[in-house]
Amino acid sequence: MSEHDADQEDEQVTDDAVSDPIEELRERKREAQLGGGEDRIQAQHDKGKMTARERIDFLVDDGTFNEIDPFVEHRSTNFGMEEKQFAGDAVVTGYGEVDGRKVFLFAHDFTVLGGSVGEVVADKICKVMDKAIENGVPVIGLNDSGGARIQEGVDSLVGFAKIFQRNTEASGLIPQISAIMGPCAGGATYSPALTDFTFMVEDTSHMFITGPDVIETVTGEQVSKGELGGAGSHSSKSGVAHFAYPSEEAALENIRRLLSYLPQNNMEDPPRVKPWDEPDREVPEVTDIVPDAPRKPYDMTRVIGSIVDEDSFFEVHESWARNVVVGFARMDGRSVGIVANQPRVSAGTLDIDAAEKAARFIRMCDSFNVPIVSLVDVPGFMPGTDQEHNGIIRRGAKLIYAYAEATVPLLSVVVRKAYGGAYIVMSSKFLGSDVNYAWPGSEMAVLGPRGAVNILYRNEIAEADDPDARRQALMDEFREEFAHPYGPAKRGYLDDVIEPKDTRKRLIDDLDLLERKREESPPKDHGNIPL
Ligand code: HXC
Repeated sequence: MSEHDADQEDEQVTDDAVSDPIEELRERKREAQLGGGEDRIQAQHDKGKMTARERIDFLVDDGTFNEIDPFVEHRSTNFGMEEKQFAGDAVVTGYGEVDGRKVFLFAHDFTVLGGSVGEVVADKICKVMDKAIENGVPVIGLNDSGGARIQEGVDSLVGFAKIFQRNTEASGLIPQISAIMGPCAGGATYSPALTDFTFMVEDTSHMFITGPDVIETVTGEQVSKGELGGAGSHSSKSGVAHFAYPSEEAALENIRRLLSYLPQNNMEDPPRVKPWDEPDREVPEVTDIVPDAPRKPYDMTRVIGSIVDEDSFFEVHESWARNVVVGFARMDGRSVGIVANQPRVSAGTLDIDAAEKAARFIRMCDSFNVPIVSLVDVPGFMPGTDQEHNGIIRRGAKLIYAYAEATVPLLSVVVRKAYGGAYIVMSSKFLGSDVNYAWPGSEMAVLGPRGAVNILYRNEIAEADDPDARRQALMDEFREEFAHPYGPAKRGYLDDVIEPKDTRKRLIDDLDLLERKREESPPKDHGNIPL
């Protein structure tokens, strides 16, 4: 070969080398996109589930996802693991946009080793969580995993500890949202539990610390996976899931909706959307919704629906502890958190679950600068040994703590009644509430008329010729004294008594004013909320 020919061959090699790297990169990426391979993807679809990448594509704005660490591989050599290498391992991580706002994501890839979490899977998740914290961006985890990777032993457990540490660091700094879209077992459940919101998908998702087999072995109890830890159980019985939807698509669409009410981080306000509903709109219909008779049930969500911007109410924990209603809404385009007693369920009494549900929602709103509007119609705390022995004192105290600690604007309206401790608890003036209103027919007292006269006049009623008539007369007298809001209004405990039809307008005016509210708390590590 002449010198000239050799030079030409070198040039050829160099040209090939220049085009090859790009092709190689593309090929590697194509391969990584397949996760555990076509068959596993088909198996995932056969179970009615999307793959990790399909979920991400569905969730984020078109073309906005940037993957991080697509080539990461595990380093395990135990149990034939060197034969089971997949680019990216068992989680897809990166960032994208939802409605033009950045989000970090991780989605367990069940097609690779059942989405199990080994050392590098955990490191990938921790990397995006660190970036989310550093950049003040929400993080969304799409869970579909067999949990700690058995072959990697304690490295897998350490991986979970690292994730829990990040979940805790991120708490109160950035919104953290979890969706359960497959199995989530054992300690793996604690990462979603540490986040702000958990979504579940009916039929295809499960969460439990110990599964049905272990339960039967240890206790003899027989229970199906669905009954134990399906979306229905966790959204209505345990309160572990804030939302349950019949399909993955519906869950992902509602994650997008949820994000629209939240800021990117604790230093920002939630986005204000262009108002579409008249701020001065009168709401006379609320007078028809709320009956005068103090014990007659009605649906508080109808009152909420009237007062807030049309179709803006987004209920959280809709099926759990239904005696209290919590959720997001908009008022003149601003994001607000609603906390309201629900007289349609258990007469709207506060019990352990209701107190914990409302307390957690209030603290979440307070972390993320969402003002809280409370609509009050509460006969008191739920009586009974069950409640007392399960700690209603300790656990009801969480609600007081949450309201008292909150520094976001707090507004409340007593729409019918507020008795006893529940009057104080539900955003009363001296728990730091900024604005307190009541409707003209409302009453605030230590006890309702019947309970009060039964205690104050027990002997007198018993000795009367006609005890029922005497009780009624005394109740009427009691009502005369307390069955109106002017007692508390005279003391300044209420800022005003307002006509129900003006409720929307007044609250919007106040929210406008309170936008500038600044409240500093003395520095401390953290308070000691009764847990
Ligand atoms: C390694 C796993 C795995 C795991 C599943 N796989 N879970 N590999 N570690 N934890 C693998 C399976 O071997 C299988 O691989 C593939 O993933 C798909 O799993 P299948 O069993 O075929 O799928 P399915 O029938 O849908 O059942 C899914 C499942 C089941 C319910 C998740 O796989 C299961 O019970 N896995 C173990 C769950 C578990 O006990 N995890 C540990 C939890 S404790 P092949 O190649 O055979 O197809 C925990 C501790 C956290 O997580 C600690 C935090 C403090």
